[in-house]
Parts: sequence; C-alpha cells; structure tokens
Amino acid sequence: MEKLLITGGRALQGRIIVGGAKNAVLPIIIASLLAKTPSRFDEVPMLEDVRTISQVLRHLGVKVDDSEPNVLTVDSRDITSFEPPYDLVSTMRASFLVLGPLIARMGKARISMPGGCAIGARPIDIHLKAFEALGVEIEQGHGYIEANAPKGIKGATIYFDFPSVGATEHVMMLAALAKGKTVLENVAQEPEIVDLANYLNKMGAKVRGAGTAVIKIEGVKELHGADYTIIPDRIEAGTYMIAAAMTGGDVIIENVLPEHQKPLTAKLREAGAIVEEDVDRIHVVSNGQLKAVDVKTLPFPGFPTDMQAQIMAMLVVANGRSRVTETVFENRFMHVTELMRMGAKITTEGRSASIDGPAHLTGCQVRCTDLRAGAAMILAALVAEGQTSIVDLHHIDRGYENIVEKLRGIGAQIERVKE
Ligand code: UD1
Repeated sequence: MEKLLITGGRALQGRIIVGGAKNAVLPIIIASLLAKTPSRFDEVPMLEDVRTISQVLRHLGVKVDDSEPNVLTVDSRDITSFEPPYDLVSTMRASFLVLGPLIARMGKARISMPGGCAIGARPIDIHLKAFEALGVEIEQGHGYIEANAPKGIKGATIYFDFPSVGATEHVMMLAALAKGKTVLENVAQEPEIVDLANYLNKMGAKVRGAGTAVIKIEGVKELHGADYTIIPDRIEAGTYMIAAAMTGGDVIIENVLPEHQKPLTAKLREAGAIVEEDVDRIHVVSNGQLKAVDVKTLPFPGFPTDMQAQIMAMLVVANGRSRVTETVFENRFMHVTELMRMGAKITTEGRSASIDGPAHLTGCQVRCTDLRAGAAMILAALVAEGQTSIVDLHHIDRGYENIVEKLRGIGAQIERVKE
C-alpha cells in the first residue's frame, strides 16, 4: 500500500505549473470517436482517468497512442465494437459519454448503467430524455442500456431540468451529427463545455452559444479529426491557490486562465488573501491569517462543487465561523469526518456545514474518500502540526498529475512511500 507522508508548517513559495484540465480532456477524447480521421491532443494530463478512457477506446477498436508525454493521438477510423467493457465503464463515470458518439457512428450502442458513487446517486435521466428527443430508442434492463437510432438522429429543442455538465456535453456530441437543428436550453456553462464546443467546431461541427445557457447546434453529415490543445485545469489551479493562501505562502500559479478562477478568487480575497491576476498566471500571497467566509456550490459561474472540500480545509484554519453549503451533489461531505480526525471543528446538517476556526490541526492517519476530498486532506496536512499519513491514493491519482513533485517544488515537505 502506498501513502503520502506530509509534515506541515511550511509556507509555500515559488512557481507551480498547472496541467491540462481532466474534465475537459475526458469528453474531448471521447468526442474524437465522432471522426473517421485522427485527432492529436496537446497539454493532456497523464492521469489515471486518461489511461482509463484510452483503454475504453482501445476496446472499441480505436488506436490510441500515448507514447509522447502529455500528447495523445486518437484514430477512430475503425470502430469494431459498440459495447464498451463493463469493468472499465464502472471505474469511471465519464466513460458513459461514449454512448452518444457510438450511436452517432454505429447507429446503436450497449453500455452498462453507471452506478451511483460516493458523492451521490448521480442519475442519467437528463442524458436519456434528451437522447429520446433526438430520436434514440432506449431500452434498459439487466443493468444495461441499449440504444438504437433506426431512423437516424434528428435535431430537436430540449430544455434541461438541471444544467448537468455531462448531459450538456453528451447531447452536444450527438447533436453535432444529427439531421437539422438542435437547441439546448438551461444547459451547463462550465469552461469545459466551451472547450468541447471549440474542439467539435474544429472538427467541422456547427455549435454556437457554448458558455451560455442556450446552445444551438446545426447538425452536419460528418466530422473530421483535429489537433487541439486542452485548457488548463481550473480545479488543480484552485487547489494550489488555496495551498498558497492557507500556508501563508507566496506562490505564482502558471498556465491558468484567471477568468475561470473568478468564483474562488473572490472567496480568497474575501478571506483576506492577496490574489493578483495576469494573462495566464495568478499570484497568491497571504500571511496565513484568514477570515471565515460563507461558500455555496452552484453550477458555473457559481462556486465549483469540485473546490468545496479544498476550501473547507482552508476554512478550518480561518478565523471565525464559516458556512459551506453543497447544492450540486447530495452527499459530498465525506471529507468532514477525516478533517475532524485532524482536529477540525465542523458540524453538518443536511447539505450545510458550519466550521469554527481557527482549529489547531495535528497530523494523524487519514484517507482519501474521493478525488477532491483527497486534495483537502493534503491541504490540511500542509498546515497541521507534525506528520500526516494519507492513504487510498488512487483517488488522487485520478485527477492530480505529479502532485508530490509540484508541491515539493514550492517547498512542501511531502513524500510518497510504499509500505
Ligand atoms: C461533472 C464533473 C465533476 C463535477 C460535476 C459538477 C467531469 C468528468 N466531471 O460531473 O467533476 O463535480 O460535473 O460540476 O466533467 N444529474 C441528474 N440527472 C442527470 C445528470 C446529472 O440528476 O441525468 C445531477 C447529478 O446527480 C448531480 C448534478 O446533476 O447531482 C450535477 O451533475 P453533472 O453536472 O451531470 O456532473 P457530471 O457531469 O457527472
């Protein structure tokens, strides 16, 4: 078993470089299934989730080359299967998005129902309702979804019950090759949606309005492969911004789009940190004396749910009572009990948590309960007295590339050891 050993108490200083966005690259790799010619992606973070989706594509007969660092080429000329393997699909929810491109290319697909996960039930009703509106026949049974489009895919106007990120991406991909015009209303506006739309347009699609609540798609007959550079990971960047603020550090975060960080930047400033924005970098300075703030997660441009655990770790050591409310997922407070083991003073009621700070954190053994909860443990350990040992690192490996090396580069005392 591997674990992280972190000794807290150092103010982080220096420069740290952010990689490509996990949540942008996964749907983009999947979208390359729509083309019969190859695509080449740059700034690809070499993460466990990227390896998993590459394996899913290989099982479908697609050629995926990841021999060059941070570059991926995908050649989807020949798709030989319309059924991605259960064991891979079940390890990563985002792989469900292959359903749409498979229907578009093969006219049919079969995929296992994605289960719930630690942070919530995560239904797929919005995806399936939209697919049916586009002419896809869906049958569910024995844990599988079978989808057929015997009469082809036809454009439609669809109102989303909730601006689901995955459903917006999924329907955009299918509608790109539909007959006629599709209008998607009340859709997600996350930067990753814009990145996918830009890639689809480079492939020859006609997608307009991505980044707003209404996306219009004029279907085209076919798409071609394209070269594309993935946007920086706003969640990785945000995690390092918080690391700088809570350790009383002075850190320049490079390869970041300040526009994407606005909801977090506002909260860090409110808490008393100095945040300076440049074109593609952010400078965070703090004396470590932070004030309590209230945070409510919301779809973009609201505060991201994927930063909720990390900001809670920061608020544990901020002065005063903070309230954190999670509105996107129904069960995303699993980091709370782990933070409390380190000395945090938190009470939860439903989807809200009250945090009384500053708590004196002390190192102990904690575990990662999911990806971002794992990041919160690392952040707490960076300010805890003594050594913290963090286990269940596979969660962190899904979303943070070289986190040990990157944090060590700005002065953290962190190592990964095998027991
Ligand atoms: C994506 C991100 C994830 C992030 C989340 C919200 C990727 C690979 N993952 O996940 O990191 O936390 O956006 O920003 O990009 N819902 C339904 N029915 C549906 C679909 C969703 O009720 O058909 C609900 C979900 O249960 C959840 C909420 O909508 O409560 C948000 O989910 P969604 O935006 O779809 O998240 P993902 O795309 O799964």
